[in-house]
Amino acid sequence: MNLHISPIGNLTADQVRKALLAAVAAPSLCNSQPWRFHCTSRAIELHADNERRIRTADPERRELLLACGAALLNLRLAIRIAGVHPDARILPDRTHPDLLATVRPAGLRPATPLDRALAAAIPRRHTNRRPFLPEPVPTPLRNQLRQAAEGERGWLAILDGTRLADLRRLLHRAHRTQLADAGFVAEWLEWVGRAPDTSDGVPVRSSGPRPEPQDEWVLRDYGAGKAAPRVAGKDFEPEPLICVLGSFQDSVTAQLQAGVAMQRVLLTATDAGLSASFLSQVVEVPATRTELRTLLGGWVWPQTVLRFGYGSPVRATPRRPLEDVVTCEPAPAATPSGRTN
Ligand SMILES: Cc1cc2nc3c(=O)[nH]c(=O)nc-3n(C[C@H](O)[C@H](O)[C@H](O)COP(=O)(O)O)c2cc1C
Repeated sequence: MNLHISPIGNLTADQVRKALLAAVAAPSLCNSQPWRFHCTSRAIELHADNERRIRTADPERRELLLACGAALLNLRLAIRIAGVHPDARILPDRTHPDLLATVRPAGLRPATPLDRALAAAIPRRHTNRRPFLPEPVPTPLRNQLRQAAEGERGWLAILDGTRLADLRRLLHRAHRTQLADAGFVAEWLEWVGRAPDTSDGVPVRSSGPRPEPQDEWVLRDYGAGKAAPRVAGKDFEPEPLICVLGSFQDSVTAQLQAGVAMQRVLLTATDAGLSASFLSQVVEVPATRTELRTLLGGWVWPQTVLRFGYGSPVRATPRRPLEDVVTCEPAPAATPSGRTN
């Protein structure tokens, strides 16, 4: 299918294309890419693609909304570095709940150095499921990650001591619960351990090492048993930095906004040379999510759990072509005088 992208507001067609490519580089559960974009003459619309929700892990599409929130931040940043202000509206039309946001390029505004740094991190951010170096993440950088979450109305709790041990127990419990669910396992296997030429789902090369019984945090097998056996002694870092990203509400808007905050944290980490991976079981199983909320004091809604550290570079996980996820309003017809109607 041919995709004809037109200029929108102050953005050239090439800048619109770059913004869409930035948007689809966002992370999503199992690389499901649960989004669609529609370009009108005035704005880029972000829609949920509910067919791509991971039904068993994400029955209420909370993680779908996190992924779409991440795509929204990427879109905003890509428009900013084009020197244009992105006027973003979340859930602009209550009668169309799948229209999650519109972003209207509105007026010229120079990008800040921070916009540029975060936008440059978009293509460099990849989920890294491999062991990280045993080096600790310095305190100023931990604070920077917290501030990144707070800058987008999120909350980042960095756990240590008994709270960290409690989280690990909850994570293992959630993991066992999911593996005991035949429906979950069947759907999981549809999305992971894919061949190298896949355009969605997780290819074996992105899976990280095959899980082993001594692993404490990274438990999921994204290689479906096909990943190469681990080099002896190459275990996970003994003291990973584990954070819970939370929101103050749990509405659709709050979950979408939490995705924006999550992505700002991930891009801040990437810009600072950190690698990251997700540990989502604990927020996918309702009982453990409730217990995690209590563990955090009962006033934030845990949305995702992230592990940070210094890792070796990993390759990008593929994306579907823009033609598969973008539709465009036809450009206005030209009149004989060359003007457009
Ligand atoms: C809401 C959400 C939950 C995720 N949960 C996990 C997880 O539990 N474990 C994991 O290794 N990756 C998880 N991921 C990462 C995705 O698998 C990853 O984003 C996707 O495969 C695309 O790869 P990329 O992040 O390298 O671009 C999650 C991503 C999102 C957005």
